Amino acid sequence: MNTRTPLIAGNWKMNLTLKEAETLAKAVAETATRYTDRDVLIYPTFLQFTQAAKIAQGSRVALGVQNCSAEKDGAFTGEISASQAKEAGAQFVLIGHSERRHILKESDAFLKQKVERVLEQNLMCMLCVGETLAERESGHAEAVVLGQLNAALGQLAPQLWKNIAIAYEPVWAIGTGKNATPDDAQAMHAAIRRRVSELNQDIAPQLRILYGGSVKPDNIGALMGKADIDGALVGGASLKAESFAELVKNAK
Ligand code: 13P
Repeated sequence: MNTRTPLIAGNWKMNLTLKEAETLAKAVAETATRYTDRDVLIYPTFLQFTQAAKIAQGSRVALGVQNCSAEKDGAFTGEISASQAKEAGAQFVLIGHSERRHILKESDAFLKQKVERVLEQNLMCMLCVGETLAERESGHAEAVVLGQLNAALGQLAPQLWKNIAIAYEPVWAIGTGKNATPDDAQAMHAAIRRRVSELNQDIAPQLRILYGGSVKPDNIGALMGKADIDGALVGGASLKAESFAELVKNAK
């Protein structure tokens, strides 16, 4: 038995109207009260964040932002800083989502700077890692994922590791309906934990590693049954109150 509390996170991406976001945040707060042995987290858009945070206040739902700047403050039009996210009530910042790595071309070096900004604010950093289909098919999946991990966290000071969570999201499984088999996901999670253990032996058994990529109410149970899968980062299925409630319920 490990002591890692399961964490179910909904990444709302660039979806929902403000009204829909408010309704969903209320429903998620109700769901979270029913399952007190697992943690629940939502990542609304920046513009929905304040309302969602107000609704979630006093509930068991944690709030996160989907991104932040690599800079502390200043003339960076369109960006928000980690300190602003903290001021608005964020506890988590998602860094390195594959949509940002691949569509917005965020590099490993750039993401490392973002991790630093997040940790300076004593926020939780959820680092996303994951290989493309071509990388998996050519047998490089583990090297790619561990490379991303090393680049962002390889030089992290020991005391900062307690503020890290990792989300393994194979790029080919995101929004495609194809998910990694529980055994394949487990193999990668175990590899990640082994590498973290080389970097920080004490933290590795406590570090939460989430799986993401077409997680649905009917496959989350088998994924969560694996030794090193500690939760899920969910896109599409987190956008409907009923399916998110089912996800949380089935996340044993
Ligand atoms: P889907 O659950 O829609 O595949 O998205 C996964 C994801 O990218 C979560 O961050």
